[in-house]
Amino acid sequence: MTDKKIIAVIGATGAQGGGVARAILNDPESEFAVRAITRNPESEKAKELAALGAEVVAADMDDYESVKKAFDGAYGAFCITNYWEHFSPEREQVQAMNLARAAKDDGLKHVIWSTLEDTRRWVPLDDDRMPTLMGKYKVPHLDAKGEMDQVFTDLGVPTTFLLTSFYYENFIYFGLQPKVGPDGKLAITLPMGDKPLPSIAVNDIGKAAYRIFKGGDEFIGKTVAVAGDHLTGSDFANGFTKALGREVVYNAITPEDFRGLGFPGADDLGNMFQFKADFNEYYAGIRNLDESRKLNPELLSFKDWLAQNIDRIPVE
Ligand SMILES: NC(=O)c1ccc[n+]([C@@H]2O[C@H](COP(=O)([O-])OP(=O)(O)OC[C@H]3O[C@@H](n4cnc5c(N)ncnc54)[C@H](OP(=O)(O)O)[C@@H]3O)[C@@H](O)[C@H]2O)c1
Repeated sequence: MTDKKIIAVIGATGAQGGGVARAILNDPESEFAVRAITRNPESEKAKELAALGAEVVAADMDDYESVKKAFDGAYGAFCITNYWEHFSPEREQVQAMNLARAAKDDGLKHVIWSTLEDTRRWVPLDDDRMPTLMGKYKVPHLDAKGEMDQVFTDLGVPTTFLLTSFYYENFIYFGLQPKVGPDGKLAITLPMGDKPLPSIAVNDIGKAAYRIFKGGDEFIGKTVAVAGDHLTGSDFANGFTKALGREVVYNAITPEDFRGLGFPGADDLGNMFQFKADFNEYYAGIRNLDESRKLNPELLSFKDWLAQNIDRIPVE
């Protein structure tokens, strides 16, 4: 039994939660201990976390009772839902509700809810600049999360609302890496026009979250937004060109063409990029780089991240 304050980390075997868990576990002086929540404590990633000193506890966000048990005795929790596992905004909201209720019922002192904007505040459903999806969303994987902010507030959960950004790692894992186009040139394809896309190394989200837990009351009830860089498609392409030593161009397609790319979720992501471009002043404005660096002085620019990760980019 630890005398440190326990942070229960949802998604600890994944990208964001993994970053939070490692940020805490890598600090031997930390006032916090990590309780890594997973559906599968026997997975390699869960075992790695245990080896780093985490307590690994089984729970499933679909099951309120299991989350309530897993949060029992904790000081705080990092809460995240994974839309891309099931593509269901309704299921994501049930999961978020289970997290919020369990946090409330276990009396947690500080929760970080990894959320995103409910874009319908900017683009009402009757605004036809982008299609309405699934009957009641503009960007399902954003809207579903943003709508749940109110639930954490209404239940009286002491929450920090963490607005994250596009991971640099999407160029490794999300199929967005430079690819050879019909003209034989390597290109990255984004529907952002000439607007900057706030983005971040996923581990830097974890480091910011750790700082927010350390700050406690300073951040409860607040919205905190983080990004490591604000880059246009051309900036990303230039970064790849330098790092790969091979020309990469920016293929700036329209959001409409992106929605039509045909992979699962392309319409959702096309709308997402359109929201980020059309409301760029708000979207990039709130994801302030100086504020993000204050939270996490180790914040990586895309250039620095790329220098460390160039061998992981699956250039096609
Ligand atoms: N890609 C981006 O640029 C980006 C940017 C901002 C926000 N996001 C958001 O990030 C979210 C995904 O987070 P991520 O990137 O960290 O995902 P990830 O790396 O795919 O990991 C997903 C994590 O969620 C856990 N999980 C999933 N379903 C669960 C359940 N029912 N009960 C308990 N744990 C569950 C998994 O744990 P186990 O499998 O071990 O149980 C795993 O640790 C998405 O909702 C997405 O919208 C993504």
